[in-house]
Amino acid sequence: MPDETPPRSVRDRVEGLTRLIRYHDHRYHVLDDPEISDFQYDLLLRELEALEARWPALAADDSPTKRVGSPQTFEGARPEGPGEALAPVRHTRPMLSLENAFDREEMEDWFRRVQEGSGTEEVSFIAEPKIDGLAVEIVYRDGVLSVGSTRGRGDEGEDVTPNLRTIPSIPLILRTTGSPPELLEVRGEVYMDKNDFRRLNRTLTEKGEDPFANPRSAAAGSLRQKDPSVTAGRPLHIVSHGPGEIRGLDFSNQTEFLEGISDLGLPTHPAWWICKTPEDVFQRYRDLLEERERLPYEIDGLVVKVDDYGLQARLGARARNPRWAIAYKFPATQEVARILRVEVQVGRLGTLTPVAILEPVLVGGVKVSRATLHNQDEIDRKDIRIGDAVVIQRAGDVIPEVVKPITSSRTGKEKRFRMPRRCPSCQTKVILPEGEVRHRCPNIDCPDQVRGRIRHFASRSALDIEGLGVKLIDQLVAEELIRDPSDIFFLRPDQIEALERKAEKSTENLMKAIEEARGRPLHRVIYALGIQDVGEVAARDLADQFGTIDKLISASPDDLEEVYGVGPNVAKSIHDFFLLPRNQSLVTRLSEGGVRFPETVRKEGDLRGRVFVFTGTLPGLDRSEAMGLVRERGGRVSSSVSKKTDFVVAGEKAGAKRKKAEGLGVKILSEEEFRRMLKLPKE
Ligand code: IVH
Repeated sequence: MPDETPPRSVRDRVEGLTRLIRYHDHRYHVLDDPEISDFQYDLLLRELEALEARWPALAADDSPTKRVGSPQTFEGARPEGPGEALAPVRHTRPMLSLENAFDREEMEDWFRRVQEGSGTEEVSFIAEPKIDGLAVEIVYRDGVLSVGSTRGRGDEGEDVTPNLRTIPSIPLILRTTGSPPELLEVRGEVYMDKNDFRRLNRTLTEKGEDPFANPRSAAAGSLRQKDPSVTAGRPLHIVSHGPGEIRGLDFSNQTEFLEGISDLGLPTHPAWWICKTPEDVFQRYRDLLEERERLPYEIDGLVVKVDDYGLQARLGARARNPRWAIAYKFPATQEVARILRVEVQVGRLGTLTPVAILEPVLVGGVKVSRATLHNQDEIDRKDIRIGDAVVIQRAGDVIPEVVKPITSSRTGKEKRFRMPRRCPSCQTKVILPEGEVRHRCPNIDCPDQVRGRIRHFASRSALDIEGLGVKLIDQLVAEELIRDPSDIFFLRPDQIEALERKAEKSTENLMKAIEEARGRPLHRVIYALGIQDVGEVAARDLADQFGTIDKLISASPDDLEEVYGVGPNVAKSIHDFFLLPRNQSLVTRLSEGGVRFPETVRKEGDLRGRVFVFTGTLPGLDRSEAMGLVRERGGRVSSSVSKKTDFVVAGEKAGAKRKKAEGLGVKILSEEEFRRMLKLPKE
């Protein structure tokens, strides 16, 4: 029924969808500032595709479903710095994008389609991590880098040649023994590591500039600069993942391509897998999803490709996407939700944290209804208001956070948030210490603080008291059976049973868990005390350095500062903690309650927390090997001598560092002594 007239409502919807998709294309591709997740975007696109399939008369030639890429215009684009937009570059072959699959069913559907298109041929797949960055094309002529561009609209991108040249891992000349290929166009992904992204944002914020929303935007924003020296200062990497036009080289499948360009000196994905069956692909997907959080860069899925280039050519492409590849996406870590109201939480140290209460959404398969807003400063800086639709983000075990508001969807009814004047838990007047951004409740007996301290004390990484969970703690505090953590060790079984109407068995288990907690290693007890700024790592270092709780308690700020990683602020907060009579009596009461504070005894050869400096020539030692050995045994290597240095390994011609060590009374080791300490064989 091609000439059937579509109803008005359908025409309106198609028009609306088209406008919406264009808007989001612009936000994503041009502004590097997307407002919706890939998943939500895909839903819009799929709906439009479905309507156009049903009503072909509505499928305009310039419909977003037919274009390769997206940006409509370069107006408002973000090449930063003065001047115009970057110059356009035409791609010899259009740079397509990928169809997305969000679940197993959609993947199975794709496998079916591929198999149908391949006939009886046995299909082999290659699976590559989908790094979340910015697609670029680099052109090498006769082995020399000539042009580099962004994907842009697909048929045409932006010239970023000088910027790409600043990325250290991109070879300017291909590594060949014979004659280089006449033409090699490679496509790849430019990205930024998660840690570098955080560091960059910190620097930008300190300079009063806007931070980036995620590593992808940071990579895109860093590459699309007018001034390449800005790009040069940004830690960018690249992986190559596909061919453009090639002359003078022949690859018959993706595997050969990846190996071939890697030999030419181009960086490729650190891992990729040949999959013989769909089941292999599903297994790789699960493995990679499990590893995702541990990777230094962000990946948003697995790209699955038909390995054989001949078959790829036969399968061909649709308007935007090839039929021979698909992106099997991971659950999103960012979603959009509305802020219903803001609650203020009081932490164990009295810090007030505003928390957004959200209309529940699924983020990466987990229901999220609360997200932290950090503090009033952050709320003001990001201009987040109650009633706003906001982007929320969840990564691994971290608490979900509000990234930014979507200002375009404001109605005018949104309200600004102000921190309450009084603590929501105990009504004490809230303070904002000079130079700090976090408001605090100064009342140390504030019920929320008390509960928080006890929860921390019993938590998995502290004394790990199984069975003493949030609910039970709240009950025990409400009944005034516990006022501080030491009270835990004076609880009687009958008190717990009366309270919980608990089965005898679970009380028994809890008493057992409390008994076990009495013998936990010193560093866990130190951590459990909940001293400000003393995390698990610092607690371990303190235990290693001082050995006993008494020595830690009587340590001066100077002694404390000698511990690696402990600066003046942390030293002060430890010292202040033990000066307070209530904390002294906490330690005493813990001890009376049977907590043993076992001494930390160092095994021979255990260098945990020990700091080494190497200086002078060590004829019988390979210096980097020696450093490696120190690190393997838990020690640290530093390049300069300070009072935090435990040992200076001094060889021949050791000069200033040796002198400094002598001045500070730091132990100096000869090569021979170092060997003995590490039990290395004699030279
Ligand atoms: S293949 C036609 N392989 O994902 C083939 N793309 O949504 C298209 N991407 O534009 C590219 N890792 O920026 C391919 N291993 C990989 C990839 C990858 C990341 C990006 C690329 C592409 C987008 C598609």
